[in-house]
Amino acid sequence: MRIVLMGPPGAGKGTQARRLADSTGMKHLSTGDMLRAEVAAGSELGLLAKGFMDRGDYVPDSNIIAMIEQYIADPAGVLLDGFPRTLVQAESLDASLEKAGLPIDKIVHMTVDTDELVKRLSSRAVCSDCQTPYNLVSNAPSREGVCGKCGGSVNVRDDDKPEAVLNRMKVYEDLTAPVLSYYQLRVGVTEIVATGTPDSVYEKISQAI
Ligand code: AP5
Repeated sequence: MRIVLMGPPGAGKGTQARRLADSTGMKHLSTGDMLRAEVAAGSELGLLAKGFMDRGDYVPDSNIIAMIEQYIADPAGVLLDGFPRTLVQAESLDASLEKAGLPIDKIVHMTVDTDELVKRLSSRAVCSDCQTPYNLVSNAPSREGVCGKCGGSVNVRDDDKPEAVLNRMKVYEDLTAPVLSYYQLRVGVTEIVATGTPDSVYEKISQAI
């Protein structure tokens, strides 16, 4: 299956995609995680991407498409998290899938009100090595700043700082909302209210899929 999880920053796409990947064996493809790994490795792409990401702007379409294209037809099935985010990316995904003879099986749009999104992002911290997410209010690492899973360093993401969060919300409305309209016409979009506990959101998405 090819499932696309869409939603604004902080909607819970990564949280739910990780759970779905664990329970189904599908491959979780997060362009945000892939880019953060490039930044951590200091690669050419990482150096280019960092400025865009820290401001909350999108990384150019050509770089994103080149980074993800090879994984889209994975036979285990894919859960796309954070891609496609622009009309150019959506058209490129459609062309790659058409070439491989594969459909998009489901597009899930996760909605959460803006106050809740800001609250979630302002309390998030992430391991810079293994990307394990923490919440500084409800799920902080037991040793401050140290990942309980790999011993790496747990930090607040630069793009979770207030100015970058506001820009991310605006960029989402300007560039990604049109992608939803595009898919509403072509494939259909399943709307999920993604508030409540992560367990209850997982139930709703599992049922939709
Ligand atoms: P990316 O990492 O994809 O950021 P995002 O879409 O802004 O998504 P987030 O990771 O902030 O949120 P999420 O929806 O995954 O929520 P999460 O599960 O983490 O991208 C980062 C940047 O990379 C972009 O800004 C851009 O620069 C670049 N980029 C990436 N893809 C790109 C592309 N295709 N094109 C161009 N540029 C691209 O949850 C958030 C928090 O909420 C966590 O603390 C979590 O524990 C908590 N939470 C989750 N669910 C719940 C719940 N039900 N109740 C309470 N708390 C919850």
